[in-house]
This record gives sequence, C-alpha cells and structure tokens, in this order.
Amino acid sequence: MEKIHAAITGIESYVPDYILTNQELEKMIDTTDEWITTRTGVKERRILKGEGLGLSDMCAPAVTALLEKTNTSPDEIDLVICATTTPDMVFPATSNIVCDKVGIKNAFGFDLNAACSGFTYALSVGAQFIETRKYKKVIVIGGDKMSSIIDYEDRTTCIIFGDGCGAALLEPNEEGLGIIDSILRSDGSGRAHLHQKAGGSIKPASHETVDAREHFVYQEGKAVFKFAVTNMADVSAEIMEKNGLTGDDIAWLVPHQANKRIIDATARRMGIGDEKVMLNIQKYGNTTNGTIPLCLADWQSQLKKGDNLIIAAFGGGFTWGALYVKWAINGK
Ligand code: UT7
Repeated sequence: MEKIHAAITGIESYVPDYILTNQELEKMIDTTDEWITTRTGVKERRILKGEGLGLSDMCAPAVTALLEKTNTSPDEIDLVICATTTPDMVFPATSNIVCDKVGIKNAFGFDLNAACSGFTYALSVGAQFIETRKYKKVIVIGGDKMSSIIDYEDRTTCIIFGDGCGAALLEPNEEGLGIIDSILRSDGSGRAHLHQKAGGSIKPASHETVDAREHFVYQEGKAVFKFAVTNMADVSAEIMEKNGLTGDDIAWLVPHQANKRIIDATARRMGIGDEKVMLNIQKYGNTTNGTIPLCLADWQSQLKKGDNLIIAAFGGGFTWGALYVKWAINGK
C-alpha cells in the first residue's frame, strides 16, 4: 500500500487588533526600545483586550477562515487538537469550545500542553491519525493569550510575549508531500527555569498566591536561553542529517519566535542564510504556541509545492523538536 503522509492543505491565523509597542512599554517599565530590539528582536506585539475574551475568541475566527479557504464543511472534520498554554479554562479543553463556536459537531478534540513546542508536537500527533488512515481531516490549532499570564511589572518577561494563533488543516497525501519526519524531545528537569508557580494542583489559587504574583510566567531568561540556543540548533541539524539534507536543500526554516538571537544561531548551524528564515518576531513577539502557524500563514503565498521546510521549536518543560515538511500546496 502507498505510504500516506499528512499534508498541511490550508493555514490561517488571527491576531488581535491592539498593538503594544516598545515605546508604550518604555512608559510602563524601566526599559528602552533599543534594549528590547537588540536583545530580542521584538518591536511590537498584539494584545487581546476585552472583558471575558479568551483564547477561543482568537482560534474560532482562524478556524472559520480555514474552513472557508479550504472549502471544508465543519461536518467533515474528524479531530481538532489545540496546542496551548493558556486555555480558556482549566477544563473543559479549549478545542471543545472552539468546535462549539465554529459548528464542528462530528469530531473529537483535546488540548495539548507542551509550551512553545506545542504546535510542533500537535502537528506530529495529528499526522499519526492521518498516516494510519484512521481520519481524513484533522485541524491543528496553536495559540496563546500570553497577556493573561504575563506580569506587566516584570521587565524581563513582559517585553517578549504577545497574543495570537493559527490553525492548519491536515489531510492525506500520496505524492510524498507533507510531514515527512519528526524528532521530538522533552526534559522535565528544565521546569525549574520556566514555569507558572501557582494555579496548578501543587499550589491552587489563594489570596496569598495572587498577592505574591505567582499566577504569571516565571522565567530565568539566561538559563532558558542557553538550553534553547543549543537544543533548537542541534535538533534542526539532526533532522537534516537524518534525512540527508544540506542547507542548499532547505527552502525555509520555520522557527519558534522566542528571541532573534536563538533563531540566528539555528540558521547558522543549519548552513542557511537569513533569506530562508521566516521571521515575524518584530511584529508579534513570542506568541508561544502561535509563533509557527503565524509564520506559515504570513508566508503561505510565497511557498511552493515541494518546498523543503524545517519547523523547529523550543519551550518550557523543557520541550523541543523539529519537523521535516515537504510543502504540499502552491501559494498565489
Ligand atoms: O519561548 C520559550 C523559551 N524562552 C526563551 O527562549 C527565552 C530565552 N531567553 C531570552 O530570550 C533572554 O534571556 C531574555 C530576552 C529573556 C533576556 O535577555 P538577556 O540578554 O539574557 O538578558 P539578562 O537576563 O542577562 O539581563 C541582562 C541585563 C540585566 O541587568 P544587569 O544585571 O546586567 O545590570 C537585566 O536586569 O539586562 C537587564 N534587563 C533589562 N534591561 C532593560 C532585563 N530585562 C530588561 C529590559 N530592559 N526589559
């Protein structure tokens, strides 16, 4: 029987309208546009404003646009995976809420939590259901409302993160296109350097946890940087070597957008120039699970059938991984 791959046959994204610039942050905390730009590459980020709005309010329009673009009826969808660190609620899963909001009724769904590597993990998980021929249409969402867990008094984290999401449709492909290979890793000892202290079962919410500002992202930036820069570059080089690829064979690196310096180091290690690197950190910051689908959506018109893409991510956990994708659709 012909080997089936899971191909991305559509990609759409959503970012909220409000733009939080470095200049505005200069008025809120002790920082400068110059420091943020040179240390991270971020110039501005989007923030979802409005009482009662959560992640699903960004995912639902992205999924609706995806269904329209791919001429897919909500009834045809078999599975929806939502990769996120900031679900609407602790339970139920945001994937269920998105299905309800967009009218997907014949599917099952679940959320996947792998911090910034979540979308990369979720593409790989979704692909398995296609490759086994169990399902034909799987939607993989990646997104976060990071502003809901960011302390805007902490200058080491609030400058980096933003809100946004994207959604991809996975379908079977028999032409050798789609997700060809993946290497996924995790190391729980890294949790010491990047986590949220309260709100989980170890330390449920209390007046004390709120007063201690423990419901926000805690990050030891330098330690995380060290692991990120090594592991994202290593895993990208490893998947290229495993598949006999050199820098010349790669059309695009699709990197998690955490810090421009980490992305530059990964590209150098892969032997590719800046012109092959998708980079939109300057306008969205780090949207955690949203970075990679936002890149794919922003660049989709430039992508060609058969292009070799390396998707690479690193995040809290620690989690990291790389996918080798042969792009399946021609851009405009
Ligand atoms: O996406 C998930 C994984 N996360 C990551 O990959 C993030 C990895 N880490 C990073 O990107 C970087 O570590 C940061 C951007 C978070 C920080 O950059 P850094 O170059 O590692 O700075 P640092 O933490 O070593 O701080 C250097 C200096 C310190 O001052 P002193 O102690 O040298 O006087 C900080 O207090 O910069 C200071 N600083 C700032 N100055 C102006 C820290 N944040 C700021 C700020 N504005 N916003």
